[in-house]
Amino acid sequence: MNQTLSTNKKSYYLDEWKRGYDSQPNEYDYEIDNVVGKIPLELEGTLFRNGPGLLDIAGTPIHHPFDGDGMISAFYFQHGKAYFRNRFVGTKAYLQEKAAGKILYRGVFGTQKPGGLLNNIFDLKLKNIANTNVIYWGGKLLALWEAAEPYQLNPQTLATLGIDYLDGVLQPGESWAAHPWVDPHSVMDNGQPCLVNFSIKPGLSSKITLFEFAPDGKILRRHSHVIPGFSFIHDFAITPHYCIFFQNSVNFNPLPFLFGLKGAGECVEFQPKNPTRVVLIPRDPENKQVKTFMVDSGFVFHHANAFETGNQVCIDSIAYATLPQVQPNSDYKEVNFDDLDPGKLWRFSLNLEDGIVDRQLIENSCCEFPTINPEKVGRDYRYLFIGAAHEDTGRNSPLQAILKLDMETGERQLYSFAPHGYVGEPIFVSKPNAVAEDEGWILTLVYDGEHHRSSLAILDGQNIEGEPVALLHLKHHIPYGLHGSWTNEVF
Ligand code: CO
Repeated sequence: MNQTLSTNKKSYYLDEWKRGYDSQPNEYDYEIDNVVGKIPLELEGTLFRNGPGLLDIAGTPIHHPFDGDGMISAFYFQHGKAYFRNRFVGTKAYLQEKAAGKILYRGVFGTQKPGGLLNNIFDLKLKNIANTNVIYWGGKLLALWEAAEPYQLNPQTLATLGIDYLDGVLQPGESWAAHPWVDPHSVMDNGQPCLVNFSIKPGLSSKITLFEFAPDGKILRRHSHVIPGFSFIHDFAITPHYCIFFQNSVNFNPLPFLFGLKGAGECVEFQPKNPTRVVLIPRDPENKQVKTFMVDSGFVFHHANAFETGNQVCIDSIAYATLPQVQPNSDYKEVNFDDLDPGKLWRFSLNLEDGIVDRQLIENSCCEFPTINPEKVGRDYRYLFIGAAHEDTGRNSPLQAILKLDMETGERQLYSFAPHGYVGEPIFVSKPNAVAEDEGWILTLVYDGEHHRSSLAILDGQNIEGEPVALLHLKHHIPYGLHGSWTNEVF
């Protein structure tokens, strides 16, 4: 392999990194027997992950990994053992394309059907790829993609059961975002947990609908608000009383999409010189006092957490100064990381009285995929865990490390898998009877470019820098994924 590490002193090998985007067409079931260290006996439950499993359709590369068919990976933990299973979400489009052996649908991020313009023009049938997140709530395992309805799967076998309308809450064709939060102690429900999510209907103005669900899956609250302007909103944040949206400043010119020249995602153009509108919507449907703030934030995909303190609401988010436009005829794997702006962690403090927003850089190194102790969602918190670059150069770089930040003292701890390892989103799992906020395990998938396989790393939340508690080596790789979740249920 043509390796470039020694020549330019990078912490990674670009050729190895690229192979993390190889398709994984196979579906596996096995007990993981290649374990370095020891799986904690008290770690009982299931980790679900979602992400694109296919980066090509019958040999034709897709244009962007966000267009890849969703594949669920499950790690079942019990009695100090772990069992692995992965299955593609059996979406209509996945099954049709598999049977046809060719691309039948256009992707949002530019994947086009073969046959050029004539075969793509005015074809607005988008492919529901269910590839972004997977949650277990109300007794249902749901694969999520923000532009369409969820797909329900059997949590044990991962067999696809079909599109799920959340017991009639969603209408056919209605979307549901891929970034729900669990409020651990909802003040509107006597401290019971509830699931909070949203949907966006973009246009010249954008309709945001908020949904809150009880642990049994029943809808508690649902209300809609119209905000001015086109919106491209992937994630949001919650506090006990608010949902917070960053309306990134983007232009949307749908003509190239309608004419079959570009994917819809390619027609979204970030306007870095314009401020972001931060929209605060009360969670209580009776309270219609929507507040809007303006801030120069850069582009935000993900929020780490938010909380209320005095007359302020603080939101911690990963912001990019600029965003590269997805271009037709480009190859997402031909990346020069140095040419791209890194994601950095900022705290935005909204003053509810005078409307002023204060912003503060919290972490200068390139980072993405934040996670916290789930008990702290929407509350002031101390510890944040996040995928990060191997070194704090302030420049863009693949995520190769898990960084722990102490928001109180500013202390940073890092465990790096460089030069061959590339991490995904970390997930925090509390230890049974935990008292301290960081008393838990950090679970993350690591792509090992040297062996072209993935491993699940279990790190000790109180000692990130120490050797992993366990490294569970899979027999194969899992392409770089997006989001996932943990449940204490064992299936
Ligand atoms: Co996301």
